[in-house]
Order: sequence, then C-alpha cells, then structure tokens
Amino acid sequence: MREKAIGVFDSGFGGLDIMKGIVRELPDYDFVYLGDTARMPYGTRSGKIILDFSREAVDFLFLKNCELVIFACNTASSDALHRIQVDHVPKNHNGKKVLGVLIPAAEVACRLSKNNKIGVIATSSTVSSKSFIREITKIIPEMKIYQQACPLLVPLVEAGEQNSQMAEMALRKYLEPLLAKDIDTLILGCTHYGLLESKIRKIAGRKVKIVSESRIIGAKLKDYLARHPEIETRLAKNKERTFYSTDLTDNFRKLGSRFFGEKIEVRKAELS
Ligand code: DGL
Repeated sequence: MREKAIGVFDSGFGGLDIMKGIVRELPDYDFVYLGDTARMPYGTRSGKIILDFSREAVDFLFLKNCELVIFACNTASSDALHRIQVDHVPKNHNGKKVLGVLIPAAEVACRLSKNNKIGVIATSSTVSSKSFIREITKIIPEMKIYQQACPLLVPLVEAGEQNSQMAEMALRKYLEPLLAKDIDTLILGCTHYGLLESKIRKIAGRKVKIVSESRIIGAKLKDYLARHPEIETRLAKNKERTFYSTDLTDNFRKLGSRFFGEKIEVRKAELS
C-alpha cells in the first residue's frame, strides 16, 4: 500500500501559516498543500460557492494521495466543512477524514476564558455563518461571544502591510468594540491574522488572551493522530512537502515563503 500524505487546504496563502505550525509539531510527515489563489478571497463569497470550491479542493487532495485533509481556511471550515464531512466524503471518499480549525480554536478559547466573554475576529462570511458561536456554545452554553468581521485585514496582509500604520488603524477600528465588551479572550478566526498578532497584542493589552490557530492546530492534530493509529500508521514520514496553487504567480512564491517561513516551489493545480 502506498503511504499517504496530510493535505492542507486554504483559499490562498494564509493556510501556509497554519501549515508551518503543523509542520513544527509533526516535522517528519509528508504534506500536500493546496491554495485556491485563483478564486480567493472566499471570505466575501456565498456559502453555496464556498461549498462547491471546497468540494473540488477535497477531491484534488484525495487524488494526490492524502489520507486526511485539514481545512486551514476558517471560511471553508465555517461554510463547507460539516456538509463535506457528512455528505461528500462518505459518498466519494469513504473512510477518509476532513478536519477543520474552528473546534480546536473554540476548545482552547473556552479553556482560557475566565469571565466567559470571548471575542472573534474573522472574515464577513465566517461571521455571518455564526459557526464560532455554535461551536463555542456547544462547549459552554452560557458563553458570551462578540464577533467582528474584518474585511480590510486580508487585503492589508496580502499587500505586505501587516506592520504599517494602516494595519494598526484598521485593527483599532475592529478591536475597540470588542475590547469595550470586556472580552478576556480573542480568537484570530482567519488564516491571515497570525501575521498581525504582535499588533493585535499591542492594542488588546496583556489582559486579553489570544488564540492563534497557527500555534494550536499542530498540537491538536498530533493528539488526534495519537488517538487514531488506524490513520497515523498509513501516513508517510519522508518530510516531503508539495505545494499547489490554482494560479501560479510570483506572489505565491513571495507571499507563500513569507507565510511558511521558508522558500517554497509551487506547482499549478487544476481543479474540476
Ligand atoms: N483563508 C480565509 C480564512 O481563513 C481568509 C482569506 C479569504 O477570505 O479567502 O477565512
């Protein structure tokens, strides 16, 4: 039997920051990354389109010999993951697994919050799906959750402006209403926000605990694999990393290397 890889899917480059955190925890495993850069951003699209695109991404990654796929994209995790898990995978890839980033982030936030007030910053689509509210209240029903859509942040990070005055102004505008609600925990509910963490920390102050997916998903996956030896034993450990993008631009190499923290070579993916 051919050994399998771990697939990581995002709408674009941001998922590379999550993958960097996963590789830190699981350095020996083989990974296949797919960024749907030709069709990003997903964060302003309808749930139906996000589901269609996500299905195609899952088909592609399973075709590339992945045993399980991580949705690094919060927007896809919010709008498509559940339907893919209960419908698309059983029908088309029986026995395979697809996991998202929301539940791990919700679990960590619930553990950290002492005053039961959690803030969530995310794309417009993730906020309207209310998926974080659903996952958090499943764990602690009385938790108060304050959400803020931050449509300016992804374009700012993509333009390399994460350390700029503009990013600081946008962050203040988005964070102040949440801080005014006295949140003690903040979920960075979007792949790109990890790159803004130092600015967010400065604005939110030390009292607010920050849940960054790039720091937690790797450990959660490691724990999952320890509990699922039937999957773990099928995974290849040759340290091979393959990166696919639906559009090949210099930007992917440049931004991709910035998010992943090392130089990467990117291949063109054809989704159907
Ligand atoms: N990857 C998306 C997310 O985590 C952000 C970028 C986009 O809108 O496509 O929600």
